[in-house]
Amino acid sequence: MDMNLTDKVVIITGGASGIGAETARMFLNEGSKVAVFGRTQSKIESFSESIKKEGYEVFVDTADTKNMKSMELFAEKVVKKYGGIDIWVNNAGIEHYVPLASCDEDKWNEVIDVDLTGVWKGSKIAIPYIAKRGGGSIINLSSFCSLMPTAKNGIYSVAKAGVNALTKVMAAELAPQHIRVNCVIPGFIATDMTVEQIGTIEDMLLQPISMRKFGKPEDIAKGIVFLASDNAGYINGHALVISGGKFLVQNSQDPWNNYMGGY
Ligand SMILES: NC(=O)c1ccc[n+]([C@@H]2O[C@H](COP(=O)([O-])OP(=O)(O)OC[C@H]3O[C@@H](n4cnc5c(N)ncnc54)[C@H](OP(=O)(O)O)[C@@H]3O)[C@@H](O)[C@H]2O)c1
Repeated sequence: MDMNLTDKVVIITGGASGIGAETARMFLNEGSKVAVFGRTQSKIESFSESIKKEGYEVFVDTADTKNMKSMELFAEKVVKKYGGIDIWVNNAGIEHYVPLASCDEDKWNEVIDVDLTGVWKGSKIAIPYIAKRGGGSIINLSSFCSLMPTAKNGIYSVAKAGVNALTKVMAAELAPQHIRVNCVIPGFIATDMTVEQIGTIEDMLLQPISMRKFGKPEDIAKGIVFLASDNAGYINGHALVISGGKFLVQNSQDPWNNYMGGY
């Protein structure tokens, strides 16, 4: 079935690495026009170069989801170049590992600003542009931490739980404008964000995953592209879990360990 993504204009926040970068590649493969921003000039430039070598073009610039004005300017540049916006992916995210009781206000504010308020700000900018095209789609990156919070990653867990609620409310509020709003809930995906943990506590992280492997950025990108496409035309306000079956049961490793007489 045709995804109907050819010539659609897609903005991906924080799209120069990890999940965002793979999502950009997948949209480009579908014939979409893709624009990404991040905070680091060198990162967006090297992403743009690697995309060029793959035979595609991606529009890149710096912007920060904490700064509404910088995102507005980015959106204006994209509209000038590509004529509008059809799809907006709120992908930028950060985390600070710190217990809530000892966390300082700056760390709390930064994670909430980027991971939750940034999603609201990005969506607010996207809505009039998408509405002008007669409708489209917003996709937010949530996290498994929104379903089962992580100790010492509390601010992130709280912010991502907020993203799930925001997704449902916006989905309902924007339906009359033919804008579908969904989110993706990744499990544990091997990216810059997780490389340190994979290097130190790999076994512990694999324990609850029934498929006993980490996800790849493209596993999440496929879900995002699907939700943006006409194939998901009747899906609205949904949270798509892509986790290799994380925490399906309390004893995820038993089937692998061949306990209880074998499976
Ligand atoms: N990897 C996982 O296991 C996992 C699991 C659940 C959810 N997620 C979510 O998936 C999304 C992508 O994460 P990832 O794993 O692909 O991590 P990543 O490679 O670190 O990507 C995050 C990107 O966001 C950009 N960014 C951070 N803060 C920004 C800001 N204020 N404004 C603009 N860009 C900003 C970063 O670039 P700059 O620093 O240059 O700005 C970076 O390119 C995040 O929302 C994350 O919470 C990831």
